[in-house]
Amino acid sequence: HQEKVEELESPLELLIKNLPKERNFDGKTIYFYRGFWCPEMAIRGMIAFGKHFQAQDTDLILTSNPKSGTTWLKALMFTIVTRTRYPLTENPVLFTNPHMLVPSFEYNLYNPSLYVEGNRDPRILSTHAPYDVLPTSIKDSKCRIVYICRNPLDQFMSNWHFFAKLPSETHSSIDETFNRFCSGIVFFGPFWDHILGYWKASQEKPDKVLFLKYEDLKEDIVFHTKLLAEFLGFPFSVEEERHGVVEEVSRLCSFENLKDLDINKGPILPGRDKSDFFRKAKVGDWSNYLTPSMVEQMKKLIQEKIEGSGLTF
Ligand code: A3P
Repeated sequence: HQEKVEELESPLELLIKNLPKERNFDGKTIYFYRGFWCPEMAIRGMIAFGKHFQAQDTDLILTSNPKSGTTWLKALMFTIVTRTRYPLTENPVLFTNPHMLVPSFEYNLYNPSLYVEGNRDPRILSTHAPYDVLPTSIKDSKCRIVYICRNPLDQFMSNWHFFAKLPSETHSSIDETFNRFCSGIVFFGPFWDHILGYWKASQEKPDKVLFLKYEDLKEDIVFHTKLLAEFLGFPFSVEEERHGVVEEVSRLCSFENLKDLDINKGPILPGRDKSDFFRKAKVGDWSNYLTPSMVEQMKKLIQEKIEGSGLTF
C-alpha cells in the first residue's frame, strides 16, 4: 500500500517527506535541505527558483541570514537604485513596505501581486538561500550579490523575539532554543555555514559579492551607503555628495524613520505584523538576555567555526 501511495506522490513531495526534520523555535517543522535547516515553503521556493530563474547581468541580489538586517538593506538598495527616478521625498520606500519592494525568491517571486517595483531594470531581489544553493545563473552572470551578516549573538536574540511573538503553544524555552541554535538548528542554519559560504565567495570574487556587517553599518551608515551605491553600480556624484544626498538616503532608510511609517505597521502574514521587522535595532542587545555562560559558550563556538577564515566578529 505504501508503495502505491508513494507512486502517486511527485518527486518533490517525496523529497520533502524524506528530509531529516527538526523543530524550529516556534515548534514548526524545519527540514535539512542541502546542508541547511529550512521551512518547507522556502525549500519549495528555492527549488522553483533554482530551476526557473534566469539571472540577468544587471540583477542585484540581496542575500542574508534571517534577522540580520534584510529589511534595512532592502530599503537601502531600493532607495539607492531609484533615487533619480523619484524625488527622495516621494520615494516608494515611504509608501510601500520594503518586503513588497524587494521580493524574496523563496517566498514571493512567483506571486505577481507582491512584485511591485522589483521587476524594473535593474531587478532587486532577495533570498535567504545559502551561497551553494543559489542558481548557477546567479553565480555565472555578472549580477551582483550583497550579503548582510550580523553578530550571531544579536541575530539569535532577534530570531528569538521574532518567533516568540507568533502564537504557539509549543515555543521552546530560551535555554532550549539557544542550545538548538548552537547546534545549527535554526531557520537557514547552521549560521556559521551560511555566513562562511558568502564570506568565502566575497573573498574570492570581491567585485561580485559584497559582504557587509550590520554592526559596521550601524557605526557609520553614511560611509556604507556610499560603499553600497558604488558596488551596485549607482555611485553618488560629487554634486549629490555636496548636496547631502548620501545622508538623506541614509536617514530615509534609518530604523527611526522606517519603523514609524504607517506602511510598516499592520498585518503582513497570518499572525505576523510588519512592525515585527522593526524591534529595537540595537547592537549588543543580547547582553540584556543571555547569561554569562551562554555568552561564553556562543563566543567560543563562533571562534571555533570561523577560525582561519579571516572573518571576525
Ligand atoms: P532587532 O530584532 O535586534 O531589533 P531582518 O530584516 O533580517 O528580519 O532583521 C530584523 C532586524 O533588523 C531587527 O533587529 C530589526 O529591528 C532590525 N532593523 C529593521 N530595520 C532596520 C533599519 N532600518 N536599521 C537598522 N536595523 C533595522
